[in-house]
Formats: sequence, C-alpha cells, structure tokens
Amino acid sequence: MSELFPARAIGTPMTRLDGAVKVTGTAPYAYDQPVEQPLFLHPVQATIARGRIISFDSAAAEAMAGVVTVLTHLNAPKLFGTEDAELAILQSAEVGFRGQLIGAVLAESPETAREAAGVVKVEYAVEPHDAQLRADHPALYAPEQVNAGFPTDTRQGDVDAALTSAAVSLDQTYTTPPEHNNPMEPHTTVASWDGTTLTLYDSTQGTYSVLSTLAPVFGLATENIRVIAPHVGGGFGSKGVPHAHVVLAALAAQCCTGRPVKFALTRQQMFSLTGYRTPTIQRVQLGADGDGRLTAIAMDVVEQTSRIKEFAEQTAVPSRMMYAAGNRRATHRLVKLDVPVPSWMRAPGECPGMFGPEVAMDELAVACGLDPIELRIRNEPDVDPDSGNPYASRHLLECFRLGAVRFGWGERVPAPCSRQEDGWLIGTGVASSTYPFYRQPNNTARISYGMAGDDTGTAGAAPEGRYTVQIGAADIGTGTWTTLTQIAADALGCPVETVRLEIGDTAYPMASVAGGSSGTASWGGAIVAAAEAFRSEYGTHPGPGDEAQAQPPENDDKKHFALHSFGAQFAEVRVCADTGEIRVSRMLGVFFAGRIINPRTARSQFIGGMTMGVGMALHEQGVMDPRFGIIVNHDFAEYHIPTNADIEDLDAIWLEDHDSHAGALGARGIGEIGIVGAAAAIANAAFHATGIRARDLPLTADKFLS
Ligand code: MOS
Repeated sequence: MSELFPARAIGTPMTRLDGAVKVTGTAPYAYDQPVEQPLFLHPVQATIARGRIISFDSAAAEAMAGVVTVLTHLNAPKLFGTEDAELAILQSAEVGFRGQLIGAVLAESPETAREAAGVVKVEYAVEPHDAQLRADHPALYAPEQVNAGFPTDTRQGDVDAALTSAAVSLDQTYTTPPEHNNPMEPHTTVASWDGTTLTLYDSTQGTYSVLSTLAPVFGLATENIRVIAPHVGGGFGSKGVPHAHVVLAALAAQCCTGRPVKFALTRQQMFSLTGYRTPTIQRVQLGADGDGRLTAIAMDVVEQTSRIKEFAEQTAVPSRMMYAAGNRRATHRLVKLDVPVPSWMRAPGECPGMFGPEVAMDELAVACGLDPIELRIRNEPDVDPDSGNPYASRHLLECFRLGAVRFGWGERVPAPCSRQEDGWLIGTGVASSTYPFYRQPNNTARISYGMAGDDTGTAGAAPEGRYTVQIGAADIGTGTWTTLTQIAADALGCPVETVRLEIGDTAYPMASVAGGSSGTASWGGAIVAAAEAFRSEYGTHPGPGDEAQAQPPENDDKKHFALHSFGAQFAEVRVCADTGEIRVSRMLGVFFAGRIINPRTARSQFIGGMTMGVGMALHEQGVMDPRFGIIVNHDFAEYHIPTNADIEDLDAIWLEDHDSHAGALGARGIGEIGIVGAAAAIANAAFHATGIRARDLPLTADKFLS
C-alpha cells in the first residue's frame, strides 16, 4: 500500500519553497493583507471574573478624533448561533471570565483604537467567583467524554487489589501548571463583509475549521464565507479552532458596512482569549512484582475547564496504552471555574499526561534497582493494552536502544548525585514519548494541467507543462508548502518544478485542520488520490485544462491496529549545587513516526517540539491570582519560554521505515511527538543529578535547594 509510486522527491531535504518570501518579509500574513480603507479594532475586555455589566460609558472614547464607533452588547448585531458561549460575545450583559471580550472600539488607526478602548468605562454588578483548581474541589465532575472523543474513565481488572499485593508500589501526585501557547505571530483577523459574503484573512491552522465554525454563528451558508491563510506564524493548537476574536472582527465588519476591519491581539490579550493548557493534578499509582513487571497502573487526573464552555484535556489517555499491566484505571475529573476557556496546546493529553507517569516509571526503576530503560523493556506490551489490537508498528525499544548508543547511556553511573563538575551536579534521564496517528476524513485535492500561454498565476491555471495542485490546507510554519509539493510531484511522477501548489484558501477543496499531527497524512493522502484519479483519466500526456478531484479511501486499518508513534527522550542536566539553577546541557530524541517526507523540515518539527518541552520543564507557568481570576504573568517579561541561550546541544533522529498501515504515504504525524516526554526526561535527569525528586512543573531553582 505504501509503495504506490516511486519516491523521488519524498525523503529529500528540499529547502522551504516559502523560505525566500519569509526571510525577505514579503510573505503576506493575515494582518499584512491589503484591504481598502480598513478600520482598526481594539477590544474592551472584562475586568471582573464573574458578574454582569450594568453600564458602559463610552462618551469619551466616541469623542476622540478618529474613533468611528464603540461596539458593546447594547448596540452589536445579534448573532445567529449562540450555543458556543466562548464565541457568543457581545450578546448579553453576562461576564464569564476576566479578559472576556465585552466591547470593541473601531478607529482609523490601531493607536487611536487602543487609546479609546482604554477610556471606555464599565460598571459591573460583581458576583462571587472561583478561579482556584484543587484536587479536593467539591464541584469535581466526570465529563461525558474527554478531548478527541476518548472515554472519561476506563478500568480493567482490580487495580486496588493488585496494588495491595504488589511487591513494589508507588503512589505519587504530579502537577503541571497552566501553559500558554505563544506562537510568534499573534492571532490576527482581517474581516470584510460586502453584504453577502464574509471574507476573513485569518491566522489559523484550518481555513475550513474557521468556515465551518463561523457559518452557524453568523447564520451564513458556507459558500458565503471565504477564509484565506497562505502563511501562518505558528499556532500549536491555539489557532486550531477560531476563538472569540475572529467573531468580534467579523461582527465589526458586518456592522460597519463597506469597511474591512483589522484586529490583531496583543501578547497580553492572548493569555485570556486564545486557549491554554489546563493545569493538571495527576495521581499515579504503580504496582510491580519483584522483577519490575507492572501489575497495576492507575492514573486519576484532576483539571479545570471554564464555567462557560467545557474543554476536557485527555491527560490520562496515554497511560492506557504505554505499558503492559493486567490491572488498570485511568480517570478524568474536571471543575468548572470562572477562568478563560482552555483549549488545544501541542499534544493535548499526551504532553501533560506523559509527565506524571514517566516520572513515576523513573521512581519505580529506582525502587526496583533497575535501569529505567530496562524497566521499560520489561513492560513492553505485546498488543495495545487498551484496545487489544496489535500495534501497526511500535519500535519504542528500538528508539531506546539506538538512543542509548548515541547518547552514551552505557557510561551512566546509576546512583544519583554521583557526578559533580565545577560546582554543577550532572545527571541524565530518559522518558518515553508517544502520539497517536490521526488521518482526517473528507480531505479533497484538485489537480489541473496548465493552459497554454497562461503564466499569470491565476488559480487553477498553470502554464502548459505544469500541474496546479489545490487544497485548502494551512502551512503554520511546519513546511507544508514544501512537503505537499514533494508528495504531489512523486504521486504524479513529475519533477517538483512542474508542480504549482495552491493552499490556504477555502476557494480550494476541503482540507482538515493542521492539528493532531494529522496534516501531512490527511492532505497528502488527498493529493495522492487526486493524482491517481488524474493519471487514470488522462494518462501521462494530459491536455490543457484537464482536471481531476478526489478524496482518499477511508483507512480501515485503524479498526484492526493500534496506530501510534513512539519515541525515546534522553536528557542531561546540570544543576548548580549552590543556587539550584538548572540547565539542559544535552538532549536527544529518537522517534519512529513512519516515513519522513522531508528530513529537513521534519527535524525542525522534532527539535521544535523538544525545545517547547524544555520550556515546559524549566520555564512555562501561568500564575493564576485566584482573587482576581487573572494570569498575572501575562507577557514575555514574566511568562518565560526558552531562548537560544537555554538550548545547548539538542538533536533529534529517527528510525528509517514507513508504516504500511498509515495510508498511501506510510507517514505518521510529527508535529507533536517531540514535546511528549521531554519534560519527564529532564525531571528524571534532575533527580539523577541531585537526588531530589521534583514532581511539580516547572523545575525552578527553589526545588533543588533542600
Ligand atoms: Mo495541535 S494542539 O493538535 O494543533
């Protein structure tokens, strides 16, 4: 199935086709898109965590030169669909969280809009709020399901009995803080409304996800919304679904007929408006026999969602399938708080959910006197313990074995605190990584052959001898422009130079979101199907104007096989014996994710994920002040992410193979697996360096000063 066509371009480290326009600053991001006579929007945000708006005083704002209008729930147009409370802004006086969009100033310049928004006065009737997550919160509840449709609770065997009779057992609680997506390009929308059609230039991971979400909100037919996103400066999940700012921009465009509206969120606004990773409290219990073979695995997670809308991170899900054990339990409990709405952040579920259990495995290895890699070898399952299906291809242990050689694991002295150089304690640690394989249905690609004499770059008409390949996919900085061109070239059996790719526009056929690490397999599968349809209809000598469109067949293999990617994370840290300062001096990730389409852009995804994992391990922490319901460190001065100086020797490698169950390309996703397990490997290395077991992220210096 995976060798349908010879790979000539696939597998080569082709440089980014969008590289030149990006480094020369000419790639049009959403806010750069030229529109006629735009108005600029600056929002008014709620300054209470819960209550009602009593009145607005916008006279001073309206009196400012250059202010066109001030929009509030009192004068905004009614939305058609208000079921999604995150998106139903300016529809009532209710305030659901601090930072919520409650108004907007539209002005002739962004500076004027911002200044005017600052003088809009709002009077509230404040109601008591609750913004504090705790494991014993009386309002904990079990959601119907968790993100991506997984069951909330699963149980096999008798965990409690197995824990009681285990030769070695562990019962520990691990926590991860709120974490905030900070793509380099802030969330921006340029909206225009001509009375019939809403056109959105949006910084999004999914042109069609914006379209399908907003159509019912505005009561528009899908053909009356067009979403355009040729270049996107990162998203990490925060641009996977449209958030309320997109609605506000569109609403403003609708009520100021004739003038497009430009709206760019500030970095501070992103902390309350674009989703974030919920804090998690993870109780992990492991039971093992005297040889370190697991008999029980339990993971009970407590996390938060917002009162106005549920998002249930699937944190306990990876514990269901990582290791063999006859008795298992994985549960999720949520509490609805008066806080911003949590959402997707790189590897929702797997990323936080592989922290607690992978540190627990390290603790168990110590308790059993085993090397942590050996412990994982002893607990390698024959089949997926959750579904009972065989793994399509797991290769976790090969990742560990290859990594052990490359990283020099054999030289490690097992005892903690055994290496010190110049006042720095040095240690190494490992953790497993995993991410599911997703390929989304209904992706469609269109391929047409060039018309003679047309060299204008018009959509759908490449010059003769060239193929135009169209799909509404978004390149969020991952390399999609390049990798889909490589896939199209090989699927058509032509050089990459003869392919003209057109993406990032709902004028092109349906494409699923750049999320769940599913983009390349989903869109690439559609391109392969369209190439097959084109070739079977027109052969290898098509005529000008020949065109074919197709969807790939459904992947039935997911019913019979467990489809997951795996990896092994190795980390070396230095901890200053006097100050507790911690540095990641070396890191190696070894992954198996099926066929790699482009090793250059793939490496960038892996090391990018690992770098974000360093941030999760050492820096990232949204600090909630429960008195006000606000993340107080809502900027880069105080919410820290890694800089170049924080990343020393960091590398990623992968096993060369394809996955014959992963569709026509044999490629699984790579966007998220790099972050999974990274923080646990670093925490385990910190224990090895210092003998201090830190179970709460991030690993700040104070944790190593006992
Ligand atoms: Mo990724 S969090 O699935 O966009």
